[in-house]
Amino acid sequence: MTSRPEAEQETTPSAVSPAQDQTVKGTNTRKVFVRTYGCQMNVYDSERMTDVLAPEGFEATDDMEDADLVILNTCHIREKAAEKVYSELGRIRKVKQERARHGKDMMVGVAGCVAQAEGEEISRRAPIVDLVVGPQSYHQLPGLLSKVRNGNKVVETEFDIDAKFDHLSARAERPVMKRPPAAFLTVQEGCDKFCTFCVVPYTRGAEVSRSVEQIVAEAERMAAAGVREVTLLGQNVNAYHGEAKDGSIWGLGRLLRRLADIDGLDRLRYTTSHPRDMDDDLILAHRDLKSLMPYLHLPVQSGSDKILKSMNRRHTRDEYFRLIDRIREAAPDIALSGDFIVGFPDETDQDFADTMDLIRRVEYGSAFSFKYSQRPGTPGATMDNQVPEDVKSARLAELQALISGQQKAFNASRRGMVCDVLLEKKGRNPGQIVGKSPWLQPVQLDAAEDLIGSIQAVEIVEIGSNSLFGQLIAGQDDHANPGLPRLRSKGDVI
Ligand code: SAH
Ligand code: SF4
Ligand code: F3S
Repeated sequence: MTSRPEAEQETTPSAVSPAQDQTVKGTNTRKVFVRTYGCQMNVYDSERMTDVLAPEGFEATDDMEDADLVILNTCHIREKAAEKVYSELGRIRKVKQERARHGKDMMVGVAGCVAQAEGEEISRRAPIVDLVVGPQSYHQLPGLLSKVRNGNKVVETEFDIDAKFDHLSARAERPVMKRPPAAFLTVQEGCDKFCTFCVVPYTRGAEVSRSVEQIVAEAERMAAAGVREVTLLGQNVNAYHGEAKDGSIWGLGRLLRRLADIDGLDRLRYTTSHPRDMDDDLILAHRDLKSLMPYLHLPVQSGSDKILKSMNRRHTRDEYFRLIDRIREAAPDIALSGDFIVGFPDETDQDFADTMDLIRRVEYGSAFSFKYSQRPGTPGATMDNQVPEDVKSARLAELQALISGQQKAFNASRRGMVCDVLLEKKGRNPGQIVGKSPWLQPVQLDAAEDLIGSIQAVEIVEIGSNSLFGQLIAGQDDHANPGLPRLRSKGDVI
């Protein structure tokens, strides 16, 4: 139901839209095209890359043929995701040749998790690649590009995450112009969990949290620039343990409470969380904070204790059920989402039946599901009893049918409700605006364009396959201007 730009959407990579701030205009402007695959961390990083390149005279473009520099920000989570990069590089080669015929050059860079995992191997397999840069080195892009211009092939995959975060906060101190109403903010990177199927601890490194001060400063900047909803990001976001000014260590719950005090930030979200790191303070933040949206992505991966153990998830299905009960007690209205892997090594019919049973008991608002993919270097790849592809496909189809039914039921239960909707952008048809419900569902409605950026009370009148259809409640205040008090209409559920 959501447009979560996660790994499962790697089939529809999106070019990052032209940077809305800090762009140096001039006759020498060069163009950069960034294509983003994978999770929201990559979306955030792609924006940071264009920010870093703006003072160098680069302007973002949506048109690859027009680009002096093409960057693929890649994902390594499953085999298909990684292979996609190489087929895209094949297409880029043709564009580069075409530009060369017109006397124009094109530099090609590969960033992200494939860059980190495969390093030099990339330019060996795809000689048009000039630059390979891992996720912790984007602040070095200008220097790396000047090496490329001097005729070198460059590979930079060091882990220097503190330098990256320092750069991010330096950026936060610069004035910014108007930004879209919903934005991501990375608070934590990397992962220490080492689930046996997953590449992330290898591509993103150990868990590191940004300081409270850096995050608050960036969030305040965002609010001043018109951002109304911030999604805090981390591969393991609820493992957040950032240092405050007085040296104390804050968890995610405390950080959310602090961010909820920022004027103009009406909505907070966070993703992705691990069940083991859902502590009481975070659960109670869902009860206490009106701005913390009633949606939680809490992947469980499997409903079988045997498989959870061999995945190294470090909790049982019963512990997960108890956790869900506590969360629902604190926030009865919460929509739960998750990730599932089918066909992990040694998954029997009974193990799969346990997963289906877990899904029936929890009742998700939405979920993402994947066939297990063997990733080089992870323990799962060499485990015995790999599950045949046809069995994986059959299980995935069965699981997705169950989830899809739950999602439809959840969406249908919103019919007739009045809820707050953040109006985010123009829709496909004239006069149509697309917004987001508190439960992360897209909501389409007819509204004036100047209401984009405001939060409005909307009645949900129809349910589509991927979105809800709503109508503005008459007589409410226009709170497009940040800082104006927000009127709540009667029947407002959130
Ligand atoms: N940090 C998050 C997950 C990040 S990866 C968490 O702990 O839940 C996003 C999702 O991709 C995972 O939740 C998992 O469902 C899926 N995934 C990761 N590795 C995979 C693999 N080797 N094969 C199939 N799916 C995988
Ligand atoms: Fe991967 Fe597990 Fe870490 Fe999530 S918690 S990023 S699935 S290793
Ligand atoms: Fe993919 Fe890396 Fe994100 S592997 S899911 S882009 S952390």
